[in-house]
Amino acid sequence: MSWVTRRYLARAQKKGLDLSKLAILPDAALMPLKRDGLDPVPELDRAREQTPVTKLPVPFGLNLWLVSGYEEAKAVLGDAKSFSNDFEHLVGKAEGADENPGGLGFADPPVHTRLRRLLTPEFTMRRLSRLKPGIEEIVNERLDLMAKADGPVDLVEEFALPIPSLVICELLGVPYEERDAFQHLAVARFDLFGGAGASLGAISESLEYLLGVVREQRKNPGDGLLGMIIKEHGDEVDDRELAGLADGVLTGGFETTASMLSLGALVLLQDPGSFARVRDDDESVSPFVEELLRYLTVVQVAFPRFAREDVEVGGQTIKQGDMVVVSLSGANRDDVLGQAMGGFDGTRVPAKHLAFGYGAHRCIGAELARMELRSAYPALVRRFPQMRLAVNPDELTFRKVSIVYGVENLPVTLR
Ligand code: HEM
Repeated sequence: MSWVTRRYLARAQKKGLDLSKLAILPDAALMPLKRDGLDPVPELDRAREQTPVTKLPVPFGLNLWLVSGYEEAKAVLGDAKSFSNDFEHLVGKAEGADENPGGLGFADPPVHTRLRRLLTPEFTMRRLSRLKPGIEEIVNERLDLMAKADGPVDLVEEFALPIPSLVICELLGVPYEERDAFQHLAVARFDLFGGAGASLGAISESLEYLLGVVREQRKNPGDGLLGMIIKEHGDEVDDRELAGLADGVLTGGFETTASMLSLGALVLLQDPGSFARVRDDDESVSPFVEELLRYLTVVQVAFPRFAREDVEVGGQTIKQGDMVVVSLSGANRDDVLGQAMGGFDGTRVPAKHLAFGYGAHRCIGAELARMELRSAYPALVRRFPQMRLAVNPDELTFRKVSIVYGVENLPVTLR
C-alpha cells in the first residue's frame, strides 16, 4: 500500500470513517451508478420526477444528497463558491503540502485555477488539431489488425481500449510500450465493486508510476503535454502536482472515451438506421455523437461536491459539510431537454447535455473526445459494413457499480 492510500485510509479512520465499507453501502446509495442494460434504473427517473434533489440513506453519519434534475445539476456544478471539490472535506486536512496528490477533479480555486491554466493551452482546437492525423492513423491501424482476425473480434479489447490509450500516450508524450500499465491502472480505480480500498490503491499506483514519467521528462522534456508544461512553466509546478495532472488526464480521458467507443458501437449494432447514416453521411456524424454522449452519459456522476455553507437547491436546504452527488445520467434524461429523452433517437440533434459536466470543472478534454469519437465510429462502420453482434445482447456483461459505465466485452462478427 503506498503513500496516498495509507494517507487516505489513515485520515478516514481517524475521522471514524471506514472507506472499505463503501463496498457495502446500502443499495439505495449506489442506485445512481446502476443500470439496466444501457439505461439507468427506473428508480433514477422516479427520483428526478418526484424530488430532483433528495437525500440518500448512508451510514457513518454522512449527509449525502442525490441531484438528478437538469437545472438542479447545473445549479450545483455551476456554483464553485458554495460547493467544494476538495476530498479533504470527507477525510480531513493534509498535514503537509507535499502530500497533496494533485489533480484537477479534487482541487478548488486558487489551486484548481492555477493547475487548469497550465493544461488549457494544450487543449485548444489549434493544439488538438495536431493530433488529428495521429488519431486517424491509430484508428486505421486498429481496423487493419481487426481485419486480419478469422473469427469474432472483441471490440472492447481490439478497438475501444487501445484507441484512447494510444491517443493519451501521444498527448502526454509517454512511451508507447507503457500502454498496458496505463490500461490496468486506469480501469481498476473506477471499479467500486472491488471496494474503495482497491480503487484508492490503483490511484496511488498510477500516481507513483506517473511521477517516474514526470521525473524523466524533467531531465529531458519532449513535445507532448508534459514536456511542453515543463518547458514553458517548469518552475510553477512541482513533480507531484504534474504527476497528479497527468493522472487526471489519463483517467479523465482513457476509460471514459473507451466506454463511449464500445457502448456507442453497441448502439450502432442495434440501430440499423444510425449505422447506415453514420456509414453514408458525413453530416450525420456530429449530431449522432452528441446524442450518444447524452444518451449514454458514461460518466454517471460528477466528482462529489461538499457544501461550504448552507445552500438551497431545488427547494431543499443542503447543509454546510453535506456531500452532493450529481447524477449526470439522470440530468441528461430530464424532460426539460426535450421529448422522450429516456431513449436514444439517432435523428435527434440534442441542443444541450451535461455528459461533459458544467462550470469550472467541465471536461477539459471534451473536444479531444469528440475528435476521437467522430473519427472512430464512421471508420468502423465503413470498414466493416456487415458487422454484427456475435452473441445475444442478453449475454453481454456490463459494469455493475462503476462511476464510469461500460461493457466488459463486445464480440462481433466482421463479415
Ligand atoms: C467521452 C469522453 C469523456 C467524457 C464523457 C468526460 C466527462 C467528464 C466530466 C463529466 C467531467 C466533469 C466532472 C465533474 O464536474 O465533476 C470531466 C472532467 C475532466 N475530464 Fe473528461 N470526459 C471525457 C474525455 C476526456 C478526455 C479525452 C480528457 C483528456 C485527455 C479528459 C480530461 C478531463 C479532466 C482533466 C477533467 C477534470 C477537469 C477539472 O476538474 O477542471 N476527459 N470529464
